Amino acid sequence: MAPLAAALILSWWLVAASRAQQLPRPSLSLRPSQGVSLGDPVTLRCHLPHMAAWVWLYHEEGRSYNKGKKKEQDAAAFFFVSTLQEHAGRYWCQYRVSESAELSVESDPVELVLTDLRYPPSSISLHPEQHVGTGTNVTISCWNKDYGATFLLHKDGSSDPIQRQESSGGGTATFTLFGVTPADSGIYRCSYRPWHYAFMSSPLGDSVMLEVTPTPAPPGAELVSRGNLVVAVVRGCAAVLIFGLGVFFVIDARSLWIRRDESLGGEGI
Ligand SMILES: *[C@@H]1O[C@H](CO)[C@@H](O)[C@H](O)[C@H]1NC(C)=O
Repeated sequence: MAPLAAALILSWWLVAASRAQQLPRPSLSLRPSQGVSLGDPVTLRCHLPHMAAWVWLYHEEGRSYNKGKKKEQDAAAFFFVSTLQEHAGRYWCQYRVSESAELSVESDPVELVLTDLRYPPSSISLHPEQHVGTGTNVTISCWNKDYGATFLLHKDGSSDPIQRQESSGGGTATFTLFGVTPADSGIYRCSYRPWHYAFMSSPLGDSVMLEVTPTPAPPGAELVSRGNLVVAVVRGCAAVLIFGLGVFFVIDARSLWIRRDESLGGEGI
């Protein structure tokens, strides 16, 4: 029994030890990271610890590239001098340290999206109008020549698209900005990615400008409180008036009474 227990403990320890020694996950980066047009150069860098290693770059369609990395380098770089449509897609990388047979885990994937300037740019319109007040719901419609596509809404100054949406019939996508604030002011444009070429993009289309003016606190609230004040003052005055009248009538009645008593008394004599 004892040898079995010892063997179990030993194997558990070996598994734990090998887990702990797992090679660090590499990371993959793309440069430039956005706005690469077909034919432009692009570099994919697989970052890993300072070790001599053999590095693989995989494309989702099964193609792979590999190269050796020297000990003093912190990344293996893969260059595409002139990008082609087939280069677009999702990539990840993995490595093996020279002196071991063990493979690292894979990096998180990175997407290479290529802009094809031959796609007609997206048209755009804004509703209800360019100048709106805070809290308005603004819709932005984008459309192409009826290609099924995913539309992306871009705001000048933001590096990532702010919304994405599948096109409905007629190649149109409608984006809504709910309850806009002055921070939503700016210039908006659309691009789209055809469903059949998910990593190809149209160029950015025409722009629309949105200007959101801050609206002061709803004037209704103040009117209501002012109205309440007026009502309170009127009620107060009325109360004072009624009380005053009451006092006046009591005094008047008393004096009438006294006078009547006096006159009655006078008759009696
Ligand atoms: C904006 O849209 C939301 C959700 O549809 C709605 O509840 C809200 O009343 C709208 N606001 C305005 C000012 O139209």
